[in-house]
Amino acid sequence: MTVDRNCFQEGDLALLQDRKGRRHLLTLLDGGVFHSHQGRLDHERLIGHSVGGWYRTDRGHVLLAVRPTLGDFVRQMPRGPQIIYPKDLGLIIMLADIFPGATVIEGGLGSGSLTSALLRAVGVHGRVINYEIEESWLPKAKANIQKVVGDAANLEIKIGDIYEGISERNIDRVVLDVPEPWQAVSTVGDCLLMGGILLSFLPTVIQVQKLVLALEADTRFQLIETTETLLRTWHVTERSVRPDHRMVAHSGFLITAVRCQPRVIGTPSDPSVEPPAESVAGNEEDDADGRDE
Ligand SMILES: C[S@@+](CC[C@H](N)C(=O)[O-])C[C@H]1O[C@@H](n2cnc3c(N)ncnc32)[C@H](O)[C@@H]1O
Repeated sequence: MTVDRNCFQEGDLALLQDRKGRRHLLTLLDGGVFHSHQGRLDHERLIGHSVGGWYRTDRGHVLLAVRPTLGDFVRQMPRGPQIIYPKDLGLIIMLADIFPGATVIEGGLGSGSLTSALLRAVGVHGRVINYEIEESWLPKAKANIQKVVGDAANLEIKIGDIYEGISERNIDRVVLDVPEPWQAVSTVGDCLLMGGILLSFLPTVIQVQKLVLALEADTRFQLIETTETLLRTWHVTERSVRPDHRMVAHSGFLITAVRCQPRVIGTPSDPSVEPPAESVAGNEEDDADGRDE
């Protein structure tokens, strides 16, 4: 049977938005009812009807119903520990270069926000293996993941302390959202394949410095970079165009590093190991148009 994807089906997620922009997330159920101060709306009015349609409550208020994005879902999903928000999820996928078919080790399941984004990015031919120390988070996280990614047969959750060791080898990517990632540097170095990427999300700069120093001391990690992103939305109408008053400024830092052969003969800045000038490829800052990134 082909499903008309223009219409909601039972079990689908729907995002209702009212006239003032307030949003409500729901799972459409047979016999389900949505209630708000704007009135009630039976789920059956949406099931089999248009996504992107306008629906009237019993009190006469009109609601717009769309499918939530992954970002909409994680902002509203039930949670235990602090989640990673869409602002960072997108950049994590890019900076860690998560690709379809990749095998990713993840440290810390929490509420499953980052796991959901990783599963989407690796696709059905990839794998996510998650180490989580606290078993009690599993039911909530699994329910959240199920709602946005479905039955993820390519997700394996291991209950254990990632600092104590990762048993897998030749792994493409490691993504950590645990409080003391410097304790995992050695085991991450053992599990990543050459050229594999580590990415760690950290909320404070003290943690960032500890991790970066540990990565440098290990000698198997190069191209160590720290990034943060600030996200500002804009108010655009006929009469005024300006940034919104509120923005998502700080959430956390993203630290990336690439697994390389151990550094044994000094650092690249050591003149004794500098390659001859002609073998150095031009770098972006020397580009003729002088654009800053
Ligand atoms: C901030 S939460 C992760 C949130 C998750 N990234 C999300 O977006 O929903 C950190 C998680 O790491 C787990 N954790 C802390 N230390 C750990 C360790 N040593 N090994 C494995 N998991 C750990 C905690 O139990 C918690 O679930």
